[in-house]
Amino acid sequence: MRPEGDPFVMKKLLEDHRKSLGNVEVIEFVDEAEIERLRNKVDTGVPLEIHWTWEYGSEVEELRRLYEKGKVSQWNAETDLDWSIPVSKDDWVLNPQASLMAQACALMGKDEATQKAAAFDELAYTMSQLLHGEQAALQLCGQLVNVCDKMDQKWYAASQVIDEARHVEVISKFLARKMGTIYPIGPTLKVLLDELLEAPGMQKKTLGMQTLFEGTAVGIMDLMRNESRNAFFTEMIRRVEQDESRHAAFGVLTMRRVVKEASESERAGMEDWAFAILEALNANQQLDMLKLFGPKYGIDGENLVRLLAGLPNYAELNSLAFMHTVVPNLQRLGLITERTEAGWRKAAMMVDQRGASAGGELPLVS
Ligand SMILES: [Fe+2]
Ligand SMILES: [Fe+2]
Repeated sequence: MRPEGDPFVMKKLLEDHRKSLGNVEVIEFVDEAEIERLRNKVDTGVPLEIHWTWEYGSEVEELRRLYEKGKVSQWNAETDLDWSIPVSKDDWVLNPQASLMAQACALMGKDEATQKAAAFDELAYTMSQLLHGEQAALQLCGQLVNVCDKMDQKWYAASQVIDEARHVEVISKFLARKMGTIYPIGPTLKVLLDELLEAPGMQKKTLGMQTLFEGTAVGIMDLMRNESRNAFFTEMIRRVEQDESRHAAFGVLTMRRVVKEASESERAGMEDWAFAILEALNANQQLDMLKLFGPKYGIDGENLVRLLAGLPNYAELNSLAFMHTVVPNLQRLGLITERTEAGWRKAAMMVDQRGASAGGELPLVS
């Protein structure tokens, strides 16, 4: 426990990669050798506990129901999607306003063909990062099969393993067949996913993957699906999102019990960690992507971030993906409290939402 009167200072990740751009603090990787080292680190040691259980009957009815739901909701990435639908650089795959790169190009007076090309590059980059995140989810769920101690949890985690394998399959095939490129993982994302994969125990793994990353990913995917103009893309994301809602439900059901049984200092530790992970993800502000495409389109990434952060509606725009699922879930779980709320607001990851029902029931599988 912290001593009384000791002012709480939120510990931030990647301190030595931070700097200020106007009124925002960002995380930026500039050393190419360091980025290469991070990407080449493909082996990592993980402290993994393996639990046997001799209780084969159901102990957690709600997880058994989730497992049953997973069994009847399986789909085949190869045969359930119409791969004959074209995805072209010459069309808007998403609405232009959904693309930061297209907007930046429009602002500089570039023609529509250039704006479309920039949006296409951005989509390929975003889907590549989601793909690497799916691989992390696949590996993490494999760990959960071992570290969980109840049979219902093991069965559920095993069913998520096949879901994540399908997501890796469908997104990698989409990138290879429709977009022509798979971009390497951004360094900030690699650091954060390693943090989750290397975390000990099921509590941090479930909080990190199912609550934080899957909650954020669902927000991003939902925003993209709503902006989609391409029938193939819409259907692919819709199917992936449907699986992800089961995964988020597991996170919520599990974390609700974990938080209830945790001591106050353990709960506060989870609250701090949740903020540290997502604050660092947000603090990159797409700079990893802008560094890659900036020279091609004549965009100065740092200037663009300064410009965005100065917009009067910056917090509303920046918080969209976070306010969709992950922030409301953390609030309801008691993992964002008065102690940390100001930090979330300062990072423009949390805004007041009209009609939000604070403290209501957690949304589970639709
Ligand atoms: Fe997934
Ligand atoms: Fe998932």
